[in-house]
Amino acid sequence: MISIGIILGSTRPNRVGPQVARWVHDQASRRDDATFDLIDLADHPLPHLDEPVPPMFGPSVNQHTRDWTARIAPFDGFVIVTPEYNGGMPGVLKNAIDHACAE
Ligand SMILES: Cc1cc2nc3c(=O)[nH]c(=O)nc-3n(C[C@H](O)[C@H](O)[C@H](O)COP(=O)(O)O)c2cc1C
Repeated sequence: MISIGIILGSTRPNRVGPQVARWVHDQASRRDDATFDLIDLADHPLPHLDEPVPPMFGPSVNQHTRDWTARIAPFDGFVIVTPEYNGGMPGVLKNAIDHACAE
């Protein structure tokens, strides 16, 4: 069975993202050919990228990075539910992606 992670890309107080992400999860879960799991970036607070070695060149040393990459490693693919902030993705989403590589 294919396993898909639905990443919620906003973390600000009073965000509307959880409502949208839950809707996406409900719609996706009607499928019987994949499983879907909601991943909330608010559950994985990460400082600005603070690994001494870029993730593509070496293993992560910080526990917060290891917790985040362990959370997303099992999935075959992702759907990202994100707002647009000033013409781009939220900084927390970009930062979370930058903390990972192989995953
Ligand atoms: C700082 C900030 C910048 C935004 N910039 C844009 C934008 O460039 N384009 C747009 O369509 N909406 C923009 N919006 C509106 C958000 O995308 C919209 O309100 C979204 O639902 C916010 O999601 P959230 O509540 O999960 O943070 C912006 C909102 C904020 C807070």
